[in-house]
Amino acid sequence: MNKHTETIKKRYDRISSLFDVMDHMIRDPWRKDLLENLRGNILEVGVGTGANLRYYPANVHVTGIDFSPKMLVKAYEKVNKAEAKVVLREMDAQHMDFPNNTFDAVVSTCVFCSVPNPVKGFQEIRRVVKPEGKIVMLEHMRSENGLAGKMLDLVNPLTVRIIGANVNRKTIINIEKAGLKIEQQNYLMTSIMRKLIISPNK
Ligand SMILES: C[S@@+](CC[C@H](N)C(=O)[O-])C[C@H]1O[C@@H](n2cnc3c(N)ncnc32)[C@H](O)[C@@H]1O
Repeated sequence: MNKHTETIKKRYDRISSLFDVMDHMIRDPWRKDLLENLRGNILEVGVGTGANLRYYPANVHVTGIDFSPKMLVKAYEKVNKAEAKVVLREMDAQHMDFPNNTFDAVVSTCVFCSVPNPVKGFQEIRRVVKPEGKIVMLEHMRSENGLAGKMLDLVNPLTVRIIGANVNRKTIINIEKAGLKIEQQNYLMTSIMRKLIISPNK
């Protein structure tokens, strides 16, 4: 793990005990809508404190990965309350320990603001998802509104320092750079928060 990745990981370790109290960016109905129809063998990247776990259907198998051991400690507390079968693993999304074409679906929610090399992370997702699989995401990114985008640029150094998250990432460009294809894009909170349905395009 390089030095920058280690730094961001430590920032998530640091905020892990407060994360559930302070993070309300994603509304529960958005999580439910994103996850309720998934099937088969699912990978959740950046599972964090496990906020999504209760929304997976009963008949799926979920592997949740995160590079922050302290976020995972919180997620473990939610595993028994999940209807799905859940396994959690400490792992860097930029270097995943899974064979090619393993998963029917890959999920991320507010993760690619903080993955140090987002294009590498998206490339890894493309590698581990099956060719006919799908990738579903709720991700926040830089606003398309000129003034709002500039404000986010201004506060970005602060958010990275405090919580490890960039608020001005051009996530759509990063997804496309990794060779993935965006099939559907819905704005949930202006252009900042989006629901994305993506195909691996392979
Ligand atoms: C803002 S939190 C979101 C957590 C959860 N997905 C949610 O919706 O509440 C971002 C999570 O991504 C994880 N993360 C960021 N970069 C990562 C990487 N390279 N590999 C694995 N996990 C990563 C962080 O440790 C953190 O738990």
